[in-house]
Amino acid sequence: MHAPSAFPAADRALLDLLGLLDARGYGHVTPTPATHARVVARPGRARARDVNDVFGWSLPFDQELLDPELLHAAERAGAIRGGRSTVRVSRLHGRLFLHSAYPTTDEHSVFLGPDSYRFADLVLHELRGFCPARVADIGAGAGVGGLVAAEACPDARITLTDINPDALRFARINAAHAGVDVETVECAGLAGVEGPIDAALANPPYIVDPAGREYRDGGDLFGGRLSLDMAKEALNRVEPGGRVILYTGSAVVRGRDVLRDALVDLTGRAGASLRYRELDPDVFGEELDSPAYAQVDRIAVVAAVIAKPE
Ligand SMILES: C[S@@+](CC[C@H](N)C(=O)[O-])C[C@H]1O[C@@H](n2cnc3c(N)ncnc32)[C@H](O)[C@@H]1O
Repeated sequence: MHAPSAFPAADRALLDLLGLLDARGYGHVTPTPATHARVVARPGRARARDVNDVFGWSLPFDQELLDPELLHAAERAGAIRGGRSTVRVSRLHGRLFLHSAYPTTDEHSVFLGPDSYRFADLVLHELRGFCPARVADIGAGAGVGGLVAAEACPDARITLTDINPDALRFARINAAHAGVDVETVECAGLAGVEGPIDAALANPPYIVDPAGREYRDGGDLFGGRLSLDMAKEALNRVEPGGRVILYTGSAVVRGRDVLRDALVDLTGRAGASLRYRELDPDVFGEELDSPAYAQVDRIAVVAAVIAKPE
C-alpha cells in the first residue's frame, strides 16, 4: 500500500493539484483523440481560456490564467513544459484521474479515454452482487478499473498491474486522491502478482498500432491477441468460482468475430462459462483505412465475462 506521506515531492504536488482542482469543482470528460483534435482546431481555441482548457484540453496557457495555488502545485510537480501542462485531469464516476496530456504520442503515455468510461460501467455492473475478496486490474493505466471496483466492493484488496511504470505512478496518486488503498505491481499481465485472485479485470489495448504504443497495440488477431492472452492467463489464475471481466475491442472479419470465437474455444476447453456481448458495434472506424484492417468490416467494443467453475 502507498502512504501519500511516502510519495516523492513531485507526486505529492500532483496529489495537491488533484485536491485543488476537486475543491474548485473541476470536471473534464476526455473524448476520443479525433474529437479532441476537432475541438481544439476551432477558431479561438489556440490558447487556454480557463482551467479546463489547461488540464483537460491540454492547450498552451498564460501563467496568469491559473490562480497561484494551482500554478505553484503544477510547477512543484514539474508538470509544465513549453507553456502547457504535461498532465491531463479527467472526472470519471465523480473522481478525478491524472493521465497524460494530449496528444498521447509518447510510447509511455498513460491512457484514459471513452473506453475507460465504458469499462468502469461494465466493472460496476458486473461486481454488483459479486463482491470478490481480491481484485486484480490488469493493464490498469491510470487505475480506473481498480478504483471503480473499490467503490463497488469497499472491503476488497485491490491490485493494479501495468508494464508502464508511469501509469502505475499516476494510478497511485489517483488512488491516494480517492482515499483507496491499492498495491501496484509492474509486470506483464499477472506475472508479478502473488496469492489468490477472485476477480480479474482488464481493458487491454485492442488496436493494431503500427507505432507499437503500449497503451494501444493489441498485437495480431487484428488487435485481439493481447486480450485473448490476458483472458487465458486470468482464467488460469482466478480462484474456483472467480471471474474474469474483460472489456475490449474485437475485429469483425467478413462477419466473423475473431475474438469471440477464440474465447468460446478457450472457455469450452476450461469448462468455464462465457457471457459475451457487444457494447458498441462500431468504434475507431478510421482505423479501417489502414492495410492491417483490409479484411475487417468493423471494430466492435465487447464485454466478455468468464466465470470459472467452483
Ligand atoms: C487501453 S489502456 C487501459 C488503461 C485502463 N485500464 C483504463 O481502462 O483506463 C491499456 C493499458 O494496458 C497496459 N498494458 C499493455 N500491455 C500490457 C501487458 N502485457 N501487461 C500489463 N499491462 C499492459 C498499457 O500500458 C495501458 O496502461
